[in-house]
Amino acid sequence: MNVGYFGGTFDPIHNGHLHMLDAATKVFALDLVIVMPAGMPYHKDLLAVSPACFRYMMCRRALSRRPEVVLSAAEIRRRGPSYTIDTVHDLKRDFLPGDRFYLICGSDILDTIQHWYHFEELLTELVLAVAIRPGENRSRLEQRAQELQRRYGAEVILYDTPMLPVSSTAIRQQIEESRGRSPADLPPGVMRIIRRYGLYREPNPMVWLQPETRRQVVELESKLFDLISLKRLAHSVSTMFEAIRLAKRFGGDVNRAAIAALLHDFAKELTVSEMRALAPALESDPRDSNATLHGPAAGQLLESVFGINDPEIADAITWHTTLREGATMLDKIIFLADKIEPSRTFGDLGPIREKAERDLDEAVLATLEGVRQHLIREKLKVHPASLAAMGELMRERPDASGKGSRKIKIKVKKKRKKDD
Ligand SMILES: [Fe+2]
Ligand SMILES: [Fe+2]
Repeated sequence: MNVGYFGGTFDPIHNGHLHMLDAATKVFALDLVIVMPAGMPYHKDLLAVSPACFRYMMCRRALSRRPEVVLSAAEIRRRGPSYTIDTVHDLKRDFLPGDRFYLICGSDILDTIQHWYHFEELLTELVLAVAIRPGENRSRLEQRAQELQRRYGAEVILYDTPMLPVSSTAIRQQIEESRGRSPADLPPGVMRIIRRYGLYREPNPMVWLQPETRRQVVELESKLFDLISLKRLAHSVSTMFEAIRLAKRFGGDVNRAAIAALLHDFAKELTVSEMRALAPALESDPRDSNATLHGPAAGQLLESVFGINDPEIADAITWHTTLREGATMLDKIIFLADKIEPSRTFGDLGPIREKAERDLDEAVLATLEGVRQHLIREKLKVHPASLAAMGELMRERPDASGKGSRKIKIKVKKKRKKDD
């Protein structure tokens, strides 16, 4: 069996990658191609790489019509730096000794492979299938290939590809300048994902986090791949970006906001009985719906699942579905970010998003009111904690006894005049 292995950050995947993959499939008669988006690339700054769930989602969309392709999240799931040699060892366990592995790569590998972790061993494990683009200096590359063969016993095969002179960096630039239009070199459907989650928007909220939190976020995202669906993970990461922006805007704790937002829904795919079994403190909670109970469940399970013992984060996660009277700024940020992150589409979020640009409490109040009206329409009960939070926010508004009540007084006065 001929197996292709195609790794990369794919940030985003583009037609250049697809041309390279298709040409290799044909030239090497590949029966199977394993496409492996990188987890935490050890050679890149964490800020330079988008969250794994989005990169994986874009790959899934772009590769959906290629039956020979298997998309793997093995490197994303592996915690810590990921090295190709470890991945190849893992992959080979599912294949027979006679199966041939081809590493699908660009010509730059011929000059950089010597810096890869355990590259000599890697070169004995697979064939380097090096794509040559039109216009590249073939004789120099052939020389380099022979050198690797001579020195390390590497098997290197150069193959021609109609690969476009396109890079993810150029595509990201085009996305920024295109105002929503899809760059020509982006595979169909990928731009829809970019738009839905507002990807590649500057500034990247991750720049406001401490380096330690950035590393923690990558580790947690990797763990969440095993706990929740890809769609829910993308919502969680999107909520994290929104929460960081809100915290930055209103002077909140950006690092706590990031962690709380990323983990706010990790218990959502448990059943109510599983939640109660895992978090005994919930046994007496009268709520019997996943819709409200997943918040307190996640708050209870936070330490045992992720080793995070931070009461402020736990509270914000606990109250993200209903909010509460005496809500902290972090509670409000997580509650609001969850409802307005870019992929949320229910109702008309425009006015709430506008309020969120300038006044946190006003935006939170408008969201609570929107939820209340929705529940009433659906003939569902509004949670008492939400009503208490609303009451408190209304009392605390600067115009609580001002404009609103003045209008009523004026009306009353006029009516009296008429009566007179
Ligand atoms: Fe939730
Ligand atoms: Fe959520």
